[in-house]
Amino acid sequence: MQWTTLLTLALAAPSSAVVRFHCSQLVVERLDPLVNPGSSPSSHVHQIVGGDSFNATMDPKKDMPGESTCTSCQFSEDFSNYWTAVLYFRAQNGSYKRVPQLGNNQFTDAIGGLTVYYMQDPIYDSGQKSKVTAFQPGFRMFIGDIYARTLAEAARFRQLTYTCLDTFVTRAPEIMAFPNRPCKEGIMTSIRFPTCWDGKNLDSPDHMSHMSYPETGTFESAGPCPSTHPVRTSQVMFEVVWDTKPFNDLEWPKDGSNPFVWSFGDATGYANHADYVFGWKDDALQRILDTPCYFNCTEAGSKMQSVASMNNCTQKRRVDEDIDSWLQVLPGGYQAEYGPTSA
Ligand SMILES: *[C@@H]1O[C@H](CO)[C@@H](O)[C@H](O)[C@H]1NC(C)=O
Ligand SMILES: *[C@@H]1O[C@H](CO)[C@@H](O)[C@H](O)[C@H]1NC(C)=O
Ligand SMILES: *[C@@H]1O[C@H](CO)[C@@H](O)[C@H](O)[C@H]1NC(C)=O
Ligand SMILES: *[C@@H]1O[C@H](CO)[C@@H](O)[C@H](O)[C@H]1NC(C)=O
Repeated sequence: MQWTTLLTLALAAPSSAVVRFHCSQLVVERLDPLVNPGSSPSSHVHQIVGGDSFNATMDPKKDMPGESTCTSCQFSEDFSNYWTAVLYFRAQNGSYKRVPQLGNNQFTDAIGGLTVYYMQDPIYDSGQKSKVTAFQPGFRMFIGDIYARTLAEAARFRQLTYTCLDTFVTRAPEIMAFPNRPCKEGIMTSIRFPTCWDGKNLDSPDHMSHMSYPETGTFESAGPCPSTHPVRTSQVMFEVVWDTKPFNDLEWPKDGSNPFVWSFGDATGYANHADYVFGWKDDALQRILDTPCYFNCTEAGSKMQSVASMNNCTQKRRVDEDIDSWLQVLPGGYQAEYGPTSA
């Protein structure tokens, strides 16, 4: 990802919206209103950011801006919820320890969480000029396959990747499996959601089929949307920084395999996945996407809160269980699962 190129071009000519902002950690616990609605606990541990109306059940008619008292996101009108699974380190004695998260580049004061992009055009194209349709209240989506354990199974999901952070701002190469070497400054996961909407359904049974990747090519190559999913949306992308530094000096597997495991047991990395529940206030997202701005999009009339107030918006864990000490089993009963070739 040619981040420096974008930075240079965009600073020189901020002619269109480049929306990138951070959201601090709201809560880390076993809740998942999209895939396991009503279940408390849900199957596996997640790290969640956004509006504090997040709950085990989230009716699509729920008024997320209205029911939230705060948001952990920088845009104070964004009460959406964004979440992913969490990483654990698996020690050689078989115990697991949760990997903490860090704020991202330019958000080092943020407590954990993730960075969100809403992209109209590929990030390395300074243009970001295409007209895109914002999501609507009640909209939600999921991307990835928690059962994928091989590259072939993960291949249909474009660009759910890992970057081994040799420096805090390393952005390449992006790989599809967990890095198999210690990464000096941590591991970044990047998740890119599909960008073509069927224009009708706010959700679907698998939480994916109301959305589609472009018919040919990719979002990056400006591929066209298929006729079944004709409405072009912005690309929602997450970046999550996992602070693997504390584990680099512990003993690693002798066979060169990686010691990290997703909270649902995947030790390959191919089951990277994420969830999104739209919850922007009124037309705030569309306004931002239609207004030339760069990161700091106050031009669109949107308030941006300080990192201190983002960090201030947290939820108490409602699922009472130990997720943070050295554990013999991952919360929910999972153990590390390796792909067919590395068993
Ligand atoms: C979550 O849902 C429960 C049960 O409906 C409710 O009692 C609680 O107030 C909700 N919490 C939040 C933060 O909305
Ligand atoms: C397992 O290994 C980790 C890392 O060395 C250590 O902190 C932990 O106490 C060990 N657990 C047990 C049960 O020996
Ligand atoms: C947005 O930009 C203005 C002007 O440069 C600055 O004063 C403000 O602190 C910035 N806000 C955020 C949240 O970065
Ligand atoms: C954080 O929350 C506390 C308690 O609600 C409040 O007193 C304080 O002003 C808040 N700080 C910021 C920066 O929002």
